[in-house]
Amino acid sequence: MRMNVLVVGSGGREHAIVDALTRSAQVEKIYCAPGNAGIARQAECVAIRETEVDRLLDFARTKRIGLTVVGPEAALAVGIVDAFRSAGLRIFGPTKAAARIETSKEFAKELMTRYGIPTAAYRSFGDYEQAHAYVVEQGTPIVLKYDGLAAGKGVVVARTLEEADAALRDMLLDDKYGAGRVVVEECLTGPEFSFMCFVSGSNVWPMVLAQDHKRAYDGDEGPNTGGMGAYSPLPFITPEDERFALERIMQPTAAAMVAEGTPFTGVLYGGLMKTPQGIKVIEFNARFGDPETEVVLPRLASDIVDIFCAVADGGDATLRWHDCATLGIVLASEGYPNAYEKGFEIKGLDAVEGTIYHMGTRADGDRVLTAGGRVLFVLGCGNTLAEARAAALRDVGRIDCGHLFHRTDIGHWAFEDR
Ligand code: AMP
Ligand code: GLY
Repeated sequence: MRMNVLVVGSGGREHAIVDALTRSAQVEKIYCAPGNAGIARQAECVAIRETEVDRLLDFARTKRIGLTVVGPEAALAVGIVDAFRSAGLRIFGPTKAAARIETSKEFAKELMTRYGIPTAAYRSFGDYEQAHAYVVEQGTPIVLKYDGLAAGKGVVVARTLEEADAALRDMLLDDKYGAGRVVVEECLTGPEFSFMCFVSGSNVWPMVLAQDHKRAYDGDEGPNTGGMGAYSPLPFITPEDERFALERIMQPTAAAMVAEGTPFTGVLYGGLMKTPQGIKVIEFNARFGDPETEVVLPRLASDIVDIFCAVADGGDATLRWHDCATLGIVLASEGYPNAYEKGFEIKGLDAVEGTIYHMGTRADGDRVLTAGGRVLFVLGCGNTLAEARAAALRDVGRIDCGHLFHRTDIGHWAFEDR
């Protein structure tokens, strides 16, 4: 029987989820709360914010939603999955307790230590003086992580003691992100990659690998962002690396969550690094990555509703993937990730040949306006990454808006000899 599906969120990730749902044979109607101008072309957008759980619940009951899929961590952190489950509604995502693997760095680090999952050595502090003494003892470079959701801004890779001290003061003395603790950890080196797995208790179904580019400018320079582009597959990760990541990291982590009494359901995202000492965990997220989802789901050949339901209901599923390459480039508002203006018209969207996922747009009649820091995700597909990149760059050139910038070197890790 076909069902109505509700997607919660408003970015490129949610647009890619909606797009995958349109390819399912089991979907009657797709709603998205709150959605954006691009999502509105494929789903009915509903003006409810992602954290308004009671309103979302009412909506799901009224529209007889058979499956709700949660994108953003903010909705998970306020317990949307717990609320829907208590009401007897099917929802894809982890409970608030399981989402702590993302929302609390200290929870994640303790779990990894207890279960022997490879990660950077660390200590956690609530006191500035003690943290400062430890940083001086360890030396730089060193990594400082604010323990809690800080909209991607809570991590500082400090090259000097001055930088480290400034970050510690922000986090522990000035409560810049709110009152909290700080995880101080060893600085690892090597290429980073994202390994997303569908997880239901101890069952783990791996997705294809992707890499995000977090820095704002070419050459991996400039401030950290939510991600400026992504691609899949990753030529520098071997099948042995992938097996290690699955069997020594993702599966044991899922098993650990079960053993801790907080079984995980949803997407477990491993932010991993291939260091000279082997693959280690940089962070876990409790949701689909953004923009990784925009390059991974287009490669999915299976019906995504089968997978969402298997995860939510504890059933079985098989994942099949297209043997193609995807590469996507983010068009961001000038100034992002710092202050930027919005409300500028975007033209040329109809001239594009490939797929565009909207990240931060809103409709104004027939016009599409910029409405966020990251605005559009321009996806290229091909038999090879080089073809995918050429397709994405062609479409970037067709989009007409004078107030956006993008990186021109997405995928450079795959194209350089190393
Ligand atoms: P996060 O916000 O946790 O994704 O961290 C942001 C970025 O900081 C990561 O993508 C890494 O590039 C970097 N980072 C975090 N932890 C470490 C670490 N232990 N060693 C080196 N780089 C790190
Ligand atoms: N692309 C990184 C994230 O979704 O957190």
